[in-house]
Amino acid sequence: MSLAVEELAVRFGGVAALVDVSFEVEPERITSLIGPNGAGKTTAFNVITGFLRPARGRVLYEGKALTGLRPFQVAERGIVRTFQKTNLFHRVSVLDNVMIGLHLRGRMGFLSILLGDRRVREEETALRGVAEEILAFVGLAHRRDEVASALPYGEQRLLELAVGLAARPRLLLLDEPVSGMNPAEKTTVMGLIRRIREQGVTILLVEHDMRLVMGISDQVIVLHHGRVIAQGPPGEIQSHPEVIRAYLGGR
Ligand SMILES: Nc1ncnc2c1ncn2[C@@H]1O[C@H](COP(=O)(O)OP(=O)(O)OP(=O)(O)O)[C@@H](O)[C@H]1O
Ligand SMILES: [Mg+2]
Repeated sequence: MSLAVEELAVRFGGVAALVDVSFEVEPERITSLIGPNGAGKTTAFNVITGFLRPARGRVLYEGKALTGLRPFQVAERGIVRTFQKTNLFHRVSVLDNVMIGLHLRGRMGFLSILLGDRRVREEETALRGVAEEILAFVGLAHRRDEVASALPYGEQRLLELAVGLAARPRLLLLDEPVSGMNPAEKTTVMGLIRRIREQGVTILLVEHDMRLVMGISDQVIVLHHGRVIAQGPPGEIQSHPEVIRAYLGGR
């Protein structure tokens, strides 16, 4: 097992966002976390990645506790997320957005970057090559010199994915990576997610498009009103009576 979430509880005032939530994510598999709006999916991501402390419960990655770590410490362990609303540097070029992502995991300290010594310039050149490879991988090579805000929305989401990949994830958490995309873009991203998994990366995906979720997932976890109401392979989840009820709007 790669990631284990154990008995998480999170409240926001009167809202129980997560109630006794436990699930596991198998290594090198695609696991999807689904559920109606407000079910607690993003909250679960926030807890796993250190943006939010749970009132109860813990998160283990490869047997070690993540709970209590700050977001950058979680990222240092190879756990990388993308955001439901993109988190790009809007006035910075596409290439530089990816370069910034690379620097977050780079070996050079900020001081030597500021001083701009020779080793840094050499590393810069190497990083630029890696950034260009990542952009080619997501199909944004032709946009490298444009500022991020000039890209159409679907391409901004692709850039968000590229920045996540720049951090060299071992576990990648994707929060609605294809929302707002057209069908062709969605198909492209699903293909990319499969290829990322083939490179040994574990994927935890939040997505509302059921056809995509059922087509790509090895395992599906269903949240409803902050509780796990079902988990299993897509075939089981699609015909699960509680899941159908949750999506039809009942309680
Ligand atoms: N920072 C916050 N302050 C107050 N309430 C919050 C906060 N974040 C989330 N909530 C509430 O917690 C519940 C779960 O929200 P969450 O964003 O995790 O849902 P979600 O499953 O990601 O939904 P969506 O599919 O709409 O993105 C909702 O009722 C939401 O309004
Ligand atoms: Mg959400």
